[in-house]
Amino acid sequence: MRNFEFHCPTKVFFGQGEIDKLGDAILQYGTNVLLTYGGGSIKNNGIYNTIIEIFNKYEIGFFELSDIKPNPTIHSVREGVEICKENEIDLILAVGGGSIIDCSKAIAAGYYYDGDPWDFYTGKAQIETGLPIGAILTLSATGSEMNGFSVISYEEEGLKLAAGHPDLRPVFSILDPEHTFSVPKNQTAAGTADIISHCLEQYFSAEKDTYLQDRLTEAIIKTCMHNGPIALEEPENYDARANLMWASSLALNGMLSTGKLGDWATHQIEHKLSAIWDLTHGIGLAIITPHWMRNILSEETVHKFVNLGKNLFDIEESDAFEAAEKTISKLYEFFRKMGIPANLKEAGIDVPEDMIEEMADSILQFGPIGQIKKLEKDDVSEILKAIL
Ligand code: NZQ
Ligand code: ZN
Repeated sequence: MRNFEFHCPTKVFFGQGEIDKLGDAILQYGTNVLLTYGGGSIKNNGIYNTIIEIFNKYEIGFFELSDIKPNPTIHSVREGVEICKENEIDLILAVGGGSIIDCSKAIAAGYYYDGDPWDFYTGKAQIETGLPIGAILTLSATGSEMNGFSVISYEEEGLKLAAGHPDLRPVFSILDPEHTFSVPKNQTAAGTADIISHCLEQYFSAEKDTYLQDRLTEAIIKTCMHNGPIALEEPENYDARANLMWASSLALNGMLSTGKLGDWATHQIEHKLSAIWDLTHGIGLAIITPHWMRNILSEETVHKFVNLGKNLFDIEESDAFEAAEKTISKLYEFFRKMGIPANLKEAGIDVPEDMIEEMADSILQFGPIGQIKKLEKDDVSEILKAIL
């Protein structure tokens, strides 16, 4: 196991009614807030009104940035930075899923930078710090509520890139499972697949002797496989929503990757797809994952598949490669059971085959991707062809 530092200072308020603590939590940082949200789900389910009542009660002033899109764009970020700079904002309150929190992180960092915040994503500038962010999570998926990463799209350039800094971790996150009751089926399935993918990206590491992290990772995947289908059938099942919500945060708050490097090739491939076609992130991941697994399966990696199959699905094959194949099939079947399309065509996206080479080049623009196996152009092209 590698040496590591682990510091995860986000204060979590978990459970029904915890939004009551919002006023006091904000006042630790000031009285002037930028409220960020998406296309209106928080108005439909009543969370918006509750927040405004709290703002009034605690005499908290606020500005708003709404209409932040799934796969948030740099345009929303620029708009938010301008509002923060013009109005001396003390804290950004992000209410929604990963897109809203990611966009808010980019705004928080952009506040302290004179240039274009897109520079952080291309590597032209480094994030140095950010305004404090508070989050009210409404969709269990990305883990953005407890980490310092942000993923932003530049539609016109066909790019979707990540940047991060420890200071961008939300200073507090309110996780009330009831806030996810209204999440529709397709987003519930996508979120569950995203959490599982975060687990797999960290599970498939070349690092040896991370027994504890591997077992924790399997436990989170099991939690998703048990509770995801329940949440699909019973959207207001508090315990299923609660388990998914905590799984979302724990899967990507740094705990599972302590002492090892993650892989993240699946995410890099998916980010290209959702940059071009506005595909839902978790759906793209679920489509790619089984094909990525087949690509990385080898003498060196097969033991990982054997452990995963044994601990998740009780697979006990004497032949390791057969066990691996069964494990991949079981995951594939789970995604189908969640109603996730099997390929891009089923997801309504028609990719011309002659685009594959160009896409592979773009995915590999900074060099080979992945860690347990470094994927080269042939590998990425093979995976892309398989998911059409
Ligand atoms: O815009 P609104 O109206 O709020 O609707 C949203 C949106 O349409 C809806 N929604 C959210 N909560 C709801 C709800 N609808 C009804 N009831 C609720 N309670 O769901 C839709 C999707 O929301 P979005 O925020 O886009 O979803 P998600 O949380 O999956 O975030 C995806 C984004 O996060 C990035 C992805 O690439 C993608 O851009 N990621 C961020 C990561 C991070 N910061 O660590 C890691 C991830 O791997 C991922 O890359
Ligand atoms: Zn993800």
